[in-house]
Amino acid sequence: MNDTMTLSQRADALEQKMSDELDYIVIKSRLYSMADADTSPAPNAGALMAQNPRARVLMGDDPRLPEMPEKPTLADFFHYRFGPAAHLLQSARHAVRGGLSEKMVLACLLHDISTIGFIRGDHGYWGAQLVEPYVDEEVTWAIRAHQVLRFYPDESVGYEYPASYVKTFGADYRPDGYIEEDYKRMRDHQWYMSGRMITVHDIYSFDPTVEVELEEFTDIIGRNFRQPKEGLGFDNSPVAHMWRAMIRPAKYL
Ligand SMILES: [Fe+2]
Ligand SMILES: [Fe+2]
Repeated sequence: MNDTMTLSQRADALEQKMSDELDYIVIKSRLYSMADADTSPAPNAGALMAQNPRARVLMGDDPRLPEMPEKPTLADFFHYRFGPAAHLLQSARHAVRGGLSEKMVLACLLHDISTIGFIRGDHGYWGAQLVEPYVDEEVTWAIRAHQVLRFYPDESVGYEYPASYVKTFGADYRPDGYIEEDYKRMRDHQWYMSGRMITVHDIYSFDPTVEVELEEFTDIIGRNFRQPKEGLGFDNSPVAHMWRAMIRPAKYL
């Protein structure tokens, strides 16, 4: 729309734009429907197209989401896909101030990327898998371990069971059996303390007034995250499809 248009031309153009934007059909993945307690059959694409013959199911970019670069970097995912990352940024800064190695600062910066960009439940396992091809093995291990270790105190580093968990999960909450089993395995592991450090720098009640920018960690990311030149999602890694799922979360097939 430009300035020389009349009011009615503007209205027409706006209407056209809106109808173009509605020219696609979104059919959610089962996981999203189940999260809404909807176990009914998936909407029938054919029936929906019969109502609107011009419409197509979404196979390309989702017009409702911010456009991503062709070769997205980790920073692009922070900017265009992950929700507010204040918790991660504050944790990473806390880790810097605590004198952690660059590698472990990166682990703190990434420890919850699954929560803010992918799947919440078992987020430590998902998050570790997402970054595995791009970071040191110890970083992956530590991110996976934080999922488990967060439920268990360690007096040697002053880590207590988070008071917020008592409030959020209830005083009688007990971790699932597989978490218990993983805890037994992890507490004797050579990298136990790396996983533990994520929980120590995991700011459970973070300060909403403190603003930390991702750019503060650009150099640390550059030195410790092997950004694929083809872009995350397009590097033929074993997890590329998981990054593509965040780029196009409503892709039909
Ligand atoms: Fe976490
Ligand atoms: Fe966290």
